[in-house]
Amino acid sequence: MAGFRLFPEQASTMAGRVDALLLYLVIVTAVFVTLIGVLITYFMIRYRRRAEDERGAEVHGSLALEITWSAVPFGLAMITFFWGASLYASLRRPPDDALEVNVVGKQWMWKLQHLEGRREIDELHVPVGRPVKITMTSEDVIHGFYVPAFRIKQDAIPGRYTTTWFEATRPGTYDLFCSAYCGTLHSGMIGRVVVMEPREFQAWLSGGTGGAGVAPVTRAGARVFQAEGCPSCHGGGSEARGPVLAGVFGSRVQLADGSTVMADEGYLRESILNPAAKVVAGYQPVMPTYQGLLSEEDVMQLIAYLKSLAKNG
Ligand code: CUA
Repeated sequence: MAGFRLFPEQASTMAGRVDALLLYLVIVTAVFVTLIGVLITYFMIRYRRRAEDERGAEVHGSLALEITWSAVPFGLAMITFFWGASLYASLRRPPDDALEVNVVGKQWMWKLQHLEGRREIDELHVPVGRPVKITMTSEDVIHGFYVPAFRIKQDAIPGRYTTTWFEATRPGTYDLFCSAYCGTLHSGMIGRVVVMEPREFQAWLSGGTGGAGVAPVTRAGARVFQAEGCPSCHGGGSEARGPVLAGVFGSRVQLADGSTVMADEGYLRESILNPAAKVVAGYQPVMPTYQGLLSEEDVMQLIAYLKSLAKNG
């Protein structure tokens, strides 16, 4: 039992908050289980039938009692709801200044790429004290990105993007598990998160041995953009058959059916792989699909490039 611990380490800004809510739920549950168990036992003995022909006395209601046993659980349920909802909202919303990491799950490994370029497999290096946003998808089946020490768990789902975030509070090495059964070697789909001091992290990020792995994602995305011929339609000018993409990310886009949509990662991804799903107002649905032509990593790089266009106007 050496090294056995009931709880994983607390190594993120959310860990303490998640554990506090869990502790509250456990205490509320334990108090009520005990209360009900003790009362049942006591009443069974106290009010047992003592003679064959004994009849129970008629019971009349008590308004005070009914209000009490309605109001107390209601109050507890509301505390649970607001506490849980606020924690959930914090866990869902990454801070704006977060570092970005793209993650692709596949049987049976995690492929990670920092926006600054470095690629990793089954390992994620991050700086301490800085929020990190993870955008993930899967190449095959559902995987689960799970770092117990950070109290985050998010499914990576084929065909769409999901996100999570954390801010590590202590340097060290933490387990990364796959939390969704994904086939034969699911249990071996294990990685680690290495939390480093900011200076070490910068050195690590700019280090590496050269080759394709160190090219910034946005530059890789720009190459995909050129190679796939995107500028011929999205390059502006009178012949442009598609909208200019600079500044699109993060804006609201007017669609041909009159509705608008927020241009986030999921929208860009859909527009690349299934262009007819949401056609921009003023354009024809003439764009071919890139489904099957681009890998998930290509798509993530393209989106990183489009995001950089938005930032630089
Ligand atoms: Cu991937 Cu389980």
